[in-house]
Amino acid sequence: MRRASAIAHPNLAFVKYWGKANSELNIPFNGSISMNLSSAKTVTTITFDEGYDQDHITIDGETLHHQAKAGLRISQHLDRLREIAHTSTFAQVITRNNFPMGTGFASSASGFAALTLAAASALGLELSKKQLSILARRGSGSACRSIPDGFAEWFAGHDNESSYAIEIAPVGHWDIIDIAVVVSNKAKLVSSSLGHELAQNSPFWAARSQIVSGRLARVRAAIEKRDFSAFGHEIESEALELHAIAMTSSYNLEASWQSGIFYWEPSTLHLLKLVQEWRATGLEVYFTLDAGPTVHIICRQQQEIEVLQRISGFASDLNWNMVVSKPASGSRIISDTDLEAETKN
Ligand code: PMV
Repeated sequence: MRRASAIAHPNLAFVKYWGKANSELNIPFNGSISMNLSSAKTVTTITFDEGYDQDHITIDGETLHHQAKAGLRISQHLDRLREIAHTSTFAQVITRNNFPMGTGFASSASGFAALTLAAASALGLELSKKQLSILARRGSGSACRSIPDGFAEWFAGHDNESSYAIEIAPVGHWDIIDIAVVVSNKAKLVSSSLGHELAQNSPFWAARSQIVSGRLARVRAAIEKRDFSAFGHEIESEALELHAIAMTSSYNLEASWQSGIFYWEPSTLHLLKLVQEWRATGLEVYFTLDAGPTVHIICRQQQEIEVLQRISGFASDLNWNMVVSKPASGSRIISDTDLEAETKN
């Protein structure tokens, strides 16, 4: 019996991964930059045991049928690690998220990062961070950015070995925070996997491809110099451009034609406009969004109370959940004692 536990945080992209150059390998069209989020985490324990005749997977207390889509995706990922370790031993996987899935945090990013690291460790594989990032990417593209610490850049690359993420700034580099405002718990109609595929249907796709390499350089430089204004301008434009692509990616939903994907809810737009208003009156805050209705408000640590008060003042009768995160470390192995403490939290 071989066992290990790992912890990983989801990450928030400032320059987005949207569109795949290779769907099977999860190679993106463009590079991306992100920050690990301290308040959300996934803890995964994996046990390989000769006694199992199949993989047994439990997520947040719910055991997945091994033929269920999510179960198959995890087993296929374990096969990649088993192949490297030259073993066919099945495993038990127990995963816990401290945040509900589908509420604005990329559980697939933290999930596949924690799974990759825990499985590699249990199988006795000594893999570099680069190798772990490559493997995590195969499970879910953005998971490769949850392997390194703090702020990460994912190089798009052109094949399996050249597409991975590295740390570009450590956890303590910058005092920016993310206030995630979860405005809706509804499951989204179009998955990000389908969104990636549809992106090229947008007439604005070509324009985005031209913009994104310059933006990567500017966001990287703004992080390095801690230039909050330059950073904010880039990330807010980036988020709207991703959604402009999504909103103009036409598709067929069962029998009906749809002009584009709206990941927003009415409250999403409301908040975006509020952030712009606050900025016009001197409070320097910016927003970004992933493929969902959650608004991520980015500000400096010293503005946290002010921003939280403004959101609460506005949303006192609405059921919005707010989660504040600092930059967090990357994926790491934890001991049984730490595991016990984590499970109690
Ligand atoms: O890793 P995926 O397939 O869930 O795609 C993530 C897509 C975005 O969150 C919208 C952008 C990003 O870079 O994380």
